Amino acid sequence: MDPNDALGALAGLPKQLPEAVYHLADEGVLADRRQAALGWALGAYEFTRYRKAKRGPAQLAIPGDDLRVLAPLITATAQVRDLVNTPTEDMGPKQLADAIKQLGKTYKGKVREWVGDELLKANFPTIHAVGRASHRAPRLIELTWGKASHPKLVVVGKGVCFDTGGLDLKPSDGMRWMKKDMGGAAHAIALAGLIMQAKLPVQLILLVPAVENAVAGNAMRPGEVITTRAGLTVEVDNTDAEGRLVLCDAMAYGAEQKPELIVDFATLTGAARVALGPDLPALFANADALADDVLAAGRAVNDPLWRLPLWRPYRKMLDSYIADFANAGASRHAGAITAALYLERFVPEGLPWVHLDTYAWNDGDRPGRPRGGEAMGLRALFGYLQLRFKG
Ligand code: BES
Ligand code: ZN
Ligand code: ZN
Repeated sequence: MDPNDALGALAGLPKQLPEAVYHLADEGVLADRRQAALGWALGAYEFTRYRKAKRGPAQLAIPGDDLRVLAPLITATAQVRDLVNTPTEDMGPKQLADAIKQLGKTYKGKVREWVGDELLKANFPTIHAVGRASHRAPRLIELTWGKASHPKLVVVGKGVCFDTGGLDLKPSDGMRWMKKDMGGAAHAIALAGLIMQAKLPVQLILLVPAVENAVAGNAMRPGEVITTRAGLTVEVDNTDAEGRLVLCDAMAYGAEQKPELIVDFATLTGAARVALGPDLPALFANADALADDVLAAGRAVNDPLWRLPLWRPYRKMLDSYIADFANAGASRHAGAITAALYLERFVPEGLPWVHLDTYAWNDGDRPGRPRGGEAMGLRALFGYLQLRFKG
């Protein structure tokens, strides 16, 4: 065990100890009691939608002060895991919308959506183009909450409920786990829940473009040019670079609301995993102080992030010979960076923006980190927002 892993200290116990309620007699041996308790709770998770748990977890009695802080985080993490673990047939665009409507009901937020051809009428062409080949209509879901007098915060999540790659089809190994390609949406939804539960003084706008990147006769083709909501034209170099397509129209709409900050979560690139491995989400931000603050917030809650640069010269890797730019290029170099640079074009100059390219998944079982869907970067961002908007 890593002695610096405050979160992991007790995380293996819920499934090792006999089922009972346990109390900490001497917490002095723990580096951080609260983080250890969180680790225990995260280690007790089990996905039980399709089969019963083999055993119940050993439970830890968490003191009231800690529980008030931890319970929302435990619930939010379980929500991300449940949403991501649920197979596509039970977690399509409509089911993502249902999750947001549920949230709206709980916290008295307003939910709106544009479904199928409504996306074209309301000028969300990229979301429609990516999702139109599925038998389940693409949609953009919006939840708004909070007082008009508070600063606006836009949170966007990539909701690709399954990513076949489209016509530039993924090989079977690459496609196997693509039910998790709505992991960004799962993070955005859970973060919205945390914000509303904590009554952060913001005007929240949650945006989830929810689609299936499927294959059919009407599928978007490589080589097509789409005029995006922002008016920029994009040539579809590769239909598998669909995340940035659905995000760009949602982000353009978010920017139109003139928020104080835009945050987006996305399982955007395999390249981010090549660069940083599965456990470290790549953080991109268009201001250094903002990036530093988010990184520090992540360290404070044992939810680490690592910054990658918005290295402008790499923009030329997405050059198109007929459109303003392409959604991918011939080179796979710096793939996480070129994806972020693509998104950056849809963020108006001077509008603070944070982008998280996250894996949202544990490939194997570890204490506190069960195999399958995982929240990565959620506590970091919530911690940052609490500091920023509560002073
Ligand atoms: N959803 C994938 C990215 C992904 C793959 C995330 C594996 C996590 C695990 C995304 O839509 C994608 O396919 N990206 C391509 C972009 C490329 C075609 C420019 C990639 O990363 O290879
Ligand atoms: Zn893809
Ligand atoms: Zn994808």
